[in-house]
Amino acid sequence: MPFRNRYTGLINKYHDRLPLADDARVISLGEGGTPLIRLNNIPRALGRDVDLYVKFEGLNPTGSFKDRGMTVAVSQAVSEGSKALICASTGNTSASAAAYAARAGITAFVLIPDGKIAMGKLAQAIMHGATVLQIRGNFDDGMRIVKELADEAPVSIVNSVNPYRLQGQKTAAFEIVEELERVPDYHCLPVGNAGNITAHWIGYSELALGPHDEATAACAFCAGHCRYQCGLVRERPRMVGFQSRGAAPFLRGEPVAEPETVATAIRIGNPQSWEYAWAASRESGGWFDELGDDEILDAQRMLAGHEGVFCEPASAASLAGAMRDIRSGRIEQGSTVVCTLTGHGLKDPDVAQRYSAEAVSTVDADTAAVKKAILGRLD
Ligand code: F0G
Repeated sequence: MPFRNRYTGLINKYHDRLPLADDARVISLGEGGTPLIRLNNIPRALGRDVDLYVKFEGLNPTGSFKDRGMTVAVSQAVSEGSKALICASTGNTSASAAAYAARAGITAFVLIPDGKIAMGKLAQAIMHGATVLQIRGNFDDGMRIVKELADEAPVSIVNSVNPYRLQGQKTAAFEIVEELERVPDYHCLPVGNAGNITAHWIGYSELALGPHDEATAACAFCAGHCRYQCGLVRERPRMVGFQSRGAAPFLRGEPVAEPETVATAIRIGNPQSWEYAWAASRESGGWFDELGDDEILDAQRMLAGHEGVFCEPASAASLAGAMRDIRSGRIEQGSTVVCTLTGHGLKDPDVAQRYSAEAVSTVDADTAAVKKAILGRLD
């Protein structure tokens, strides 16, 4: 058969480790298989001997890690006969749900917080033909409404409370271990609704523990879906979750009523995977920490400016936190560290505006003027 090696998405690659029926119609846009990029300039600047990688999930088809979960959740919904999807979202879930619904030929309804989502994400939902409902409230309000509605209306909920979402997202952990040929010592992620940190812990746990039975602690995550026994690795990484100071329920130990942060993707006060994320943190020996918005934006700019990788603000929380912990020694020298970059920087171009005054200068359209401007910068 021609093109046997063509990559056709994570369901085809990991079908034996996913809970879909063998004859399920696969709704895919070729998601997964994202690059694991080893950073050079940032570790040098930190002056610490660490192997620091970023898993650039912004290179998924709709520009975020959500596509991993969406391909599985939408494939399952379609095989159950669903004709419509619904989600609450800070932007990326809605973009992904809209795209996969379009691909499947079904309807998507997305609830977003009024005025608080990045322009690129809204553009995606609109262009993929979703019905966009801006609610006068935040993500947590949207989540509550969606959960209530899903019981009453013929719509499939595709937020990460849908276990198929987490099953898809766990594959990022498989890819990391395959590429490194080992388990990282630390895995750092931004935490909002807390599905992704949970999903990674499921993935690592499956690799290390094999198929779960009633006795394994991780079994609660996977609802008995795990069928994979790897046996190649025995370790699991420490899971480290970072939140923005204005939206940090894991640091407060309780929901936050009015979350606020420049990283709108993680502007969430009442995470749905609360218990699972705590379990991942506790079982792995990891921790949660918080960052100021400025720290997050500095890391985003440093990564873009010194490594050539442009992620959205929320994504940079993982790297900002890792850099701080590497500097302080909490993450020891000699460690292998992976930071998930959850979404692409082009999702949220507005943040670049704040730096435009120093980066953009207007000159006359003649060679002498341009030469003068260039030489001025090279001094
Ligand atoms: N980073 C980005 C770019 C996100 O879009 C999200 C979540 C997260 C991190 C946090 O991941 O919720 O699994 O802890 N975005 C959701 C959305 C809530 O609606 O797009 P999490």
